Amino acid sequence: MTKSQIELTINGKKVEALVEPRTLLIHFLREQLNLTGAHIGCDTGHCGACTVEMDDMSVKSCMTFAVQANGANITTIEGMANPDGTLSALQEGFRMMHGLQCGYCTPG
Ligand code: FES
Repeated sequence: MTKSQIELTINGKKVEALVEPRTLLIHFLREQLNLTGAHIGCDTGHCGACTVEMDDMSVKSCMTFAVQANGANITTIEGMANPDGTLSALQEGFRMMHGLQCGYCTPG
């Protein structure tokens, strides 16, 4: 299958990659970039466990192709840490309260 070149910014770092057009953003993040903070829960767009920010909008990365993120600015949960690597207040709050990622999936 022909691969497509994508360029995007993930957690403040420029990333260039070749991906198959059918590659989902969640698989690209987890398998090619080893960013495993976003999870695959339902894989059908219902639970929100895969949510990331794309250009300041939340998106379900299991419903988004990696090629759709070409040129975008993506923030995963890993990108929400403080500059010194410690947990941000948001991350610490979810850790203390056993939030599973961003809160979208908490009701589930
Ligand atoms: S894995 Fe459930 S919404 Fe994406």
